[in-house]
This record gives sequence, structure tokens and C-alpha cells, in this order.
Amino acid sequence: MTPAPPWALLAELTHACPLRCGYCSNPVELVSRSAELSTAQRSDVFRQAGALGVVHTHLSGGEPLLRRDLPALVAAADGAGLYTQLVTSGVGLGERRLAELIRAGLRSVQLSVQHADPLAAEHIAGARSFTAKQRAARLVRAAGLPLGLNAVLHRGNLDALDGLIRLALDWGADRIELAHTQYHGWAARNRAALMPTPAQVGRARDRVAHWRERLADTLELVWVAPDLVDATAKPCMGGWGAVSLTVTPDGTVLPCPAAGTLPALDPPRVQDHELDWIWRESKAFNAFRGEAWMPDPCRGCALRTTDHGGCRCQAHALTGDPTRTDPACRHAPDHHLVRALVHDPAEPPAFAYREGGS
Ligand code: FES
Repeated sequence: MTPAPPWALLAELTHACPLRCGYCSNPVELVSRSAELSTAQRSDVFRQAGALGVVHTHLSGGEPLLRRDLPALVAAADGAGLYTQLVTSGVGLGERRLAELIRAGLRSVQLSVQHADPLAAEHIAGARSFTAKQRAARLVRAAGLPLGLNAVLHRGNLDALDGLIRLALDWGADRIELAHTQYHGWAARNRAALMPTPAQVGRARDRVAHWRERLADTLELVWVAPDLVDATAKPCMGGWGAVSLTVTPDGTVLPCPAAGTLPALDPPRVQDHELDWIWRESKAFNAFRGEAWMPDPCRGCALRTTDHGGCRCQAHALTGDPTRTDPACRHAPDHHLVRALVHDPAEPPAFAYREGGS
């Protein structure tokens, strides 16, 4: 069956980043700056994505502002008919740069935040960044662009949820995404340090319910559930090869940002194939598409149409086999592996800052 066109393209423009967050889910081995796609190659990817039917592109990284040619890339994406969103730390987003990007066709900005307290935020980020974020938020709002905040949640900030939501209100955001850490790439090294306790998650969930009732339509509040603590497989990426694709800094095309870790996936590159072929025909994008690949108990489970079999990268990370049922699911034969991670009563170790990105 021919797959429907993808809706979104995650364009990882560079792995370079001024922050050193321990929860970074980019690969342990980062793509070097010299191996990044050129302006012309990246622009052609946007052209192909538009022709394929992609509607929305997230210009991400690392820190996409470190690409000097970012305005040209935004213009190329906009010219291809894509809605452009900058996913940024805010470091380097001054008035002139923002104006340039808006002239090129930038439509919205998603700003990462680590904590509402400046010192705690900079401790998590491993770099001076809070004032730059605050200024970036002010500039984006003054320019009239939609502003979203993204907070990656973990043991070190989950009890400070109220502050993060108040920060979003103070900074005039339209939306805040409260997303639990995905234990891929560098973050997998810090799993024990970052894993929240079930009690923390319970309290945070109550606060989200409280704020949702109080805020009504003033601020969109998105809670991305912690699949490991909840013992529920997440509908990762909305299904494999179903709604989105990722193009890494060096032109590798992946069904999800972490799929480069899977053995024998043989991911295609934009230098070798057209995006249309990659989406429809490549082995990598068809590996876990649909339901035919599913093992028991997924294949007989009513949840398979909503969780799409969970996360393949997590199944591989925890069991060594990407075809296993996602161990996050309480019905998975390997779920004991997750219980051991979540219920570890030991004091967590300190997290290790991201290396290799700056
Ligand atoms: Fe790759 Fe979930 S992160 S399938």
C-alpha cells in the first residue's frame, strides 16, 4: 500500500550547540560541522519535501542559529510551501537576526527552557543562557510571531512545574510543551540521574490538571507522558514512517531522530536518493510501517492502533532487539526491565553534561 505523504520534516541543521544539557537525545557521536549539508543541498531537501506533501518543517539542531545561512534556508523552506518553525535555545537570537529570519519567511518559534529559576536553569543547561532566552521570547512576541516553550522534564525540574507554567505566562507564550526526557543518545547515559520517581510524576500530573482548568484557553498546555513511569507504550512519532521524517545534519534520512542507533537499518541519504523514494520505497522507512512486523502480544492488542507498537528505538536500547514489544508497555514480556529502572530506590547519581556539541 502506498503510504500517505509525511506531514512534518524535522530538519536537524547542525549538531553544534551552545548548551550542554544532560538530557540531550542527539547521538553520542555528533556530526561534525564540516560534514553538514551545504545551503544548496539543504534547500533542495526542502524543495523535495514540499513536492512530497510535507506541510511543516521544524528547523532544529543542535542550535540552528549557528548556521550562518539560516535566513537562506528559511527562504528555501518557505519557497517550497513549508510552514517554518525555528526550534532554538534562544542563544544568538538578537533583534536583527530575528528580523532577517522573519523577512525570509519564518512563521513561529519554539524556545527551550530548563527551569523558571535562572540559576537552576543554567545549572541544567551547563551554560549561561537564561537572559538570552528571556530576551528572545520578548523579541518574538514583539514581532508578533507565535511563541511556544518546550521544557524537557526530569527528576531535577519536575517538582518546579508551576514555575515553568508561570514563566510561559510571563513571557507571553501561546503554548508550553512539558515533555518527559526521551532516553536516547546522550540522555541514555544519564537515565538513572534523570528518571523521575512515580510520586513526582503523580504530583506533576495533578498540577497540570489544575493549571488546565485554571488557564482554559489562555495557554495551550501539552503534557507528553512519561511512558516508562506510566508503563504505557507511547505512540512514538505517530507511527513509524507515518507522519514525519528527520534529515540529520549530514543528510541521513530517518523515520525518527534516534533511529540511527538501530542495527541493520541502513538509513538512506539525500545525497544518494530522492526524498520521495526514501519515504515510499526505502527499507528503512518500511521496516516497522503498519502492523505486519508486530510481535505478540501487540498483534492481538486493541491498543496497537493508537500506540502503533510503541518505540522501536527504546525496544532496541533496552532489549537489544528493535522488533520486541516496547518494554514500556505493562503487557510486554520485557517489562521487568523497565520496572527495575523506574523503581530503583537508590539515590540518583549526578548527570553528565553533554560533550562534543560546542
Ligand atoms: Fe525511534 Fe521511538 S525514538 S521509534
